[in-house]
Amino acid sequence: MPTSKLHVRVRTARRGAVRPRATEQERAMHRERSIELLNKAVADELAAVHQYMYFHFHLDDQGFAPLAGLFKRTAIQEMGHVEALAERILFLKGDTNMVAAGNVEKIRDPVAMLAKAMHMEEGSARDYNQWALECSAGADAASKQLFEKLINDEEGHFDNFEKQLENIKRFGPNYLALESFGGNGMKAEAAQ
Ligand SMILES: [Fe+2]
Ligand SMILES: [Fe+2]
Repeated sequence: MPTSKLHVRVRTARRGAVRPRATEQERAMHRERSIELLNKAVADELAAVHQYMYFHFHLDDQGFAPLAGLFKRTAIQEMGHVEALAERILFLKGDTNMVAAGNVEKIRDPVAMLAKAMHMEEGSARDYNQWALECSAGADAASKQLFEKLINDEEGHFDNFEKQLENIKRFGPNYLALESFGGNGMKAEAAQ
């Protein structure tokens, strides 16, 4: 490196004596933004827990135990997501706003339930992708990785709901009722 350039760097570093404080401010700003994004995710997850449990109750009441069970299991996983997000928020010295992003939609039709659930999963995966990138840009790799882990789970949930919807289309509206009678042969066929 030419001497003149080296000198410029050294001088710049010396002149920038106030720089560490600015960096600390930047860090605090990034941390606040991460906490904000993690709390937005908590709100989405809580909305999913409420919505899926509502679906679970009504499907159970209608006698569609397997689909009711799928919604309950998914709601429990979403609750696990709330926990993971809350742990990260507390680590960053924030606090969790335990407020759901929206009210429960009172959908009773199983096909409409699945469509709603797929829409929610798609929205979460899209948001978490954005927020993972934002956390990465703010040098918060752990929050980024958490969002990436959640994206995998949400895509899995989407896949499960989509399969149920495809089976209803494939076998007709009685699919859920037949599945509830423990039609293992039908399940095996549907799994192909
Ligand atoms: Fe989730
Ligand atoms: Fe999900």
